[in-house]
Amino acid sequence: MLRVAVVGSGPSGVYTAQSLVEQTAVPDVRVHVLDRLPCPYGLVRYGVAPDHEKIKSLQNNLRTVLEHERVGFVGNVEVGADGLTPGRLLELYHAVVYCVGAARDRRLGVPGEDLPGSFSATDFVSWYSAHPDAAADGFVLGARSAVVIGVGNVAVDVARILARGPEELHPTDVPEAALGALAASRVREVHMVGRRGPSQAKFTTKELRELGGLPQARVAVDPSDLALDPAYVDPAGLPAVNRRNVEVVRAWAEATNWEPRERVIRVRFFLRPVEVLEQDGRAAGVRFERTVPDGTGGVRGTGAYEDIEAQLVLRAVGYRGVPLPGLPFDASRGTVPHAAGRVLRDGVPSAGEYVAGWIKRGPTGVIGTNRPCAKATATSLLADAPALARRTVAADPLAALRAWGVRPVEWPGWLSIEQAEEALGRTLGRGSVKIADWPGLLAAAGRG
Ligand SMILES: Cc1cc2nc3c(=O)[nH]c(=O)nc-3n(C[C@H](O)[C@H](O)[C@H](O)COP(=O)(O)OP(=O)(O)OC[C@H]3O[C@@H](n4cnc5c(N)ncnc54)[C@H](O)[C@@H]3O)c2cc1C
Ligand SMILES: NC(=O)c1ccc[n+]([C@@H]2O[C@H](COP(=O)([O-])OP(=O)(O)OC[C@H]3O[C@@H](n4cnc5c(N)ncnc54)[C@H](OP(=O)(O)O)[C@@H]3O)[C@@H](O)[C@H]2O)c1
Repeated sequence: MLRVAVVGSGPSGVYTAQSLVEQTAVPDVRVHVLDRLPCPYGLVRYGVAPDHEKIKSLQNNLRTVLEHERVGFVGNVEVGADGLTPGRLLELYHAVVYCVGAARDRRLGVPGEDLPGSFSATDFVSWYSAHPDAAADGFVLGARSAVVIGVGNVAVDVARILARGPEELHPTDVPEAALGALAASRVREVHMVGRRGPSQAKFTTKELRELGGLPQARVAVDPSDLALDPAYVDPAGLPAVNRRNVEVVRAWAEATNWEPRERVIRVRFFLRPVEVLEQDGRAAGVRFERTVPDGTGGVRGTGAYEDIEAQLVLRAVGYRGVPLPGLPFDASRGTVPHAAGRVLRDGVPSAGEYVAGWIKRGPTGVIGTNRPCAKATATSLLADAPALARRTVAADPLAALRAWGVRPVEWPGWLSIEQAEEALGRTLGRGSVKIADWPGLLAAAGRG
């Protein structure tokens, strides 16, 4: 029997478990999927936007894997904390696969980015997704105008959530406090701002187009922003996704007969943030420098500036991996160094240690991208199986974890949380509503 610990129950962790148990070359592989949270599914539960029910329902596919007879979910176990080092974990399992994602935000590196009222989109997403580590920071309190920096899919997500009305969010699983705050929000203008042009934006067309179909908002695009982009003027040579993006933006820029709407999303380009402006100790807007294409795919500043007023600033400029104590880390890339998924320690593959997902590749790619990534890592692990099976490990890893003081939440505990969230929703006249705090989650799991 080969015992494997997968650390992280997001898509890459679950797809790794699936690759390991759904193959026949190495019989009898048993997998424990560990997570620091008592809830599985990583960013599918705590990142995918609550109004994207169809993508959220991918949790059902992941669930099937976690219910496989040779897979066990072991939540509420943080590897790298409380003495549970990677070295100790290797005493319990023949192999450990790190699938811990990229949990933090990239920094902008401009003055004022830490002012009250200026947040990372990561924190905003965690709040409306009910992540138990999220701070209730009054994101929208007192704000009438918001600036979202970045034109990737996370920027589109947060702009859309800000532009939705309360009745649109009510059917989702947004936690009650966030729903109340968003319902009371007076944000009526959302500026989503890219430093390069529309042909270079990172969002995907389906997500972009959705902004144009929101019941309470219209999208406005400034044609003078677009004219700077040579590929906007002549999109013929662009890859299909960029060409489609340009077409969507062009239609918005050229539209004349707008139905009146309560809210507006202004999509801007060629503006690079240089400072978050301050008034009375709070963010009051963002100063941008006008940019122009530099001819090599980047931009250069022009020395001309534009200030956009906003009481809420959300920096959606990407995620980054965080080092896990005891595991090698490439700080420049925010990833764990590896060769074909094998963790490298001082440049040499470390026996029994593997990596998959965002912590292996960096924070890009949709859920499905993690499937081949996980499979590649599992293939390396299975090729190493004869050597791994010779390693001496504990007979009962869960008993050893408990002896070290870990109090795991296993699958029945998670199912109890699900039931408690459904019951909470019923009392509130809503569908399932997420529990947003550690004590509540642990009590629901029977660990109170
Ligand atoms: C805001 C947002 C929205 C997104 N929306 C979509 C979408 O709509 N559609 C789409 O296809 N893709 C979407 N994506 C991309 C998708 O979520 C990622 O591709 C995917 O989640 C990455 O998977 P992962 O397993 O590497 O990381 P994650 O999903 O982040 O999973 C990592 C897991 O590891 C756990 N963990 C971390 N550290 C430890 C530790 N020390 N010990 C134990 N456990 C630990 C975490 O709790 C987490 O459960 C979105 C991404 C973001 C950021
Ligand atoms: N619905 C979905 O499918 C969905 C939803 C959310 C996320 N995701 C996926 O999750 C991944 C992460 O998404 P993401 O939006 O966090 O990252 P992303 O796609 O890399 O976009 C980051 C954005 O931030 C900008 N940026 C970076 N540094 C900046 C700076 N210093 N100043 C100004 N702008 C800066 C980038 O501009 P440049 O291009 O100029 O660098 C880009 O517009 C992506 O693969 C995404 O597709 C998917």
